Amino acid sequence: MKILITGGSGLLGYDLARCLDGKHEVTTWEGRADVDVTDATAVAEAIRRAEPEVIIHSAGWRDVDGCERDVVKAYAVNSLGTRNVCLGARAVGAVVAYISTDAVFDGSGRRPYYEFDPPCPINAYGRSKWAAEREVTSLLRDFFIFRVPLLFGVGPARRVKENTLAQAILAERAGRSVTATDDQFSSPTFTYDIARALEAILPTRRFGVYHLSDTGTCSRAGLLRAAIEIVGGDPGMVQGVSSSDLGRPASRQRYSPLASVCVEPLFGLTFRPWREALEECVKSDSFRALLSLGGSDGRDRQRGH
Ligand SMILES: NC(=O)c1ccc[n+]([C@@H]2O[C@H](COP(=O)([O-])OP(=O)(O)OC[C@H]3O[C@@H](n4cnc5c(N)ncnc54)[C@H](OP(=O)(O)O)[C@@H]3O)[C@@H](O)[C@H]2O)c1
Repeated sequence: MKILITGGSGLLGYDLARCLDGKHEVTTWEGRADVDVTDATAVAEAIRRAEPEVIIHSAGWRDVDGCERDVVKAYAVNSLGTRNVCLGARAVGAVVAYISTDAVFDGSGRRPYYEFDPPCPINAYGRSKWAAEREVTSLLRDFFIFRVPLLFGVGPARRVKENTLAQAILAERAGRSVTATDDQFSSPTFTYDIARALEAILPTRRFGVYHLSDTGTCSRAGLLRAAIEIVGGDPGMVQGVSSSDLGRPASRQRYSPLASVCVEPLFGLTFRPWREALEECVKSDSFRALLSLGGSDGRDRQRGH
């Protein structure tokens, strides 16, 4: 298949490209420097040139507090950007696989969210992603929407400072404590597991909305403690705080794990427990290489990584 990936320099885009390149004819837009998704003309022209059969639209602005402070930018990047990609896709007859989020739900439930639960976002980020989903469903007939929960992964070396897991491990090694919320629960998921699921699902053309998630639940602080413990550090260096202590502008979901009623019956796919996936991630050569960059941004040493 001819596949175009947007957001290729992001945490997820990095693994999408790693997983699909070589097996498919992949074109990657790293980010704004390649094509700014808010620019309708540039997007249409670049899609026309690439002539993809499938566009995995992973680019987005996921700074939850940033979105709350600048709602116009949130809608421009996440919602209008998605409209532009959909219009470009429609012009060349491409399928869109849109990467969405658990933030379309309010997180007030007592069980994981399923594909057929009604969205009800509680912050600007969630509203912009939910609006993006509606752009996809109203503009296209052939589409996938993949909602994913809190992600962890390796990501490109130059973004090591944005990698929460790597930064927590490095802080613990330097004897500094780490603060994370203990009252926000999700189903943390390895980006590589999402990429492998897309690899299996995309060729089936069984279009629709799907939840993709590793299994099990934990808090943000729990995830960081587990990562530090797996690499032999002291998990006690992670201090759990409540969301309200942080005084952040955007509301957060209290409980937003994702589960699926569709993925196993339609595709025969099952996901593994998040801790098993976390272990594979933090013990991988590429994650170890990321840690060796320390607190630098990796620009000097990313070649060959
Ligand atoms: N990470 C998570 O925990 C999580 C959870 C749920 C859903 N998601 C969703 O999954 C998708 C991928 O997330 P991620 O973790 O890979 O995000 P990320 O690491 O923040 O990367 C975002 C990507 O989008 C690109 N981008 C941002 N603004 C753009 C613009 N105006 N035009 C073109 N490209 C732009 C960025 O490139 P530049 O910065 O170079 O422009 C980067 O490649 C997003 O849609 C996000 O909403 C993520």
